Amino acid sequence: MKKATKLLAMTLAMVMAACTLTACGGGSAKGDTLTFGTNPEFPPFEYVTSNGVIGEFDGIDMAIAKQIADENGMTVAMESMEFDSLLVALQNGQIDAVIAGMTATDERRETVDFSTPYYTATQVMIVKEDSDIATAADMADKKICVIQGYTGEVCVQDMGYSYEAFKKGTEAVMELANGKCDVVVIDSATAQKYVSDNEGLKIVEDPSAFESEEYAIAVQKGNTELLDKINKSIEKMLADGTINELAVKYTEEATAE
Ligand code: ARG
Repeated sequence: MKKATKLLAMTLAMVMAACTLTACGGGSAKGDTLTFGTNPEFPPFEYVTSNGVIGEFDGIDMAIAKQIADENGMTVAMESMEFDSLLVALQNGQIDAVIAGMTATDERRETVDFSTPYYTATQVMIVKEDSDIATAADMADKKICVIQGYTGEVCVQDMGYSYEAFKKGTEAVMELANGKCDVVVIDSATAQKYVSDNEGLKIVEDPSAFESEEYAIAVQKGNTELLDKINKSIEKMLADGTINELAVKYTEEATAE
């Protein structure tokens, strides 16, 4: 080998060694930060508390996000924003992934890719205990409250009913408790939490009107590198019962309060 070539090869080897040590230019090497976006207005999946699993954020999704990052040797970061802004922030690259009890819908699949689903839910109706609403069709002449951008809003829209949309589940439930609306359409586990937190409310289910929904993590379209990591972790957590345990733990906590 010529002297110059040899020197070049040595320099190259040194640079490569330095790269593996410091993870330069890697994009996915150990020590990187995995930034999720969420909307922590959705117990038991994500809510703000004094001592959460990721800073002030706690819930089933937060525990899942932390484990995904841990298993991949990455540091987890969580950004809180409005539910409506999550997919935009993902497309802008402000966050790497969305974990927000987000239903993987065909409409959303047009702009992002979804992980293996980790939870099955359905929309339910929260009503006053003495309400005569027994099916979704009974909502026809009632005042309906939904949360802006949630799948519940889309369901009510598709049924052709008019409604009022709120920014947060708690706001809609307050409206219901104060008698200003007759029914709140929202995801099942979150509804359970609100009903146990507020006197005089009950849940009405109508499986024939509301299809089941699957929660999944969203990544930018085509980010298969990150999606593979996320899927491996989710599949492991589904297989070894971790997600089940988290669901039980956070649902019990939610109802015990
Ligand atoms: N599953 C519903 C949806 O995808 C509601 C999700 C709300 N999540 C939240 N973190 N606020 O639209």
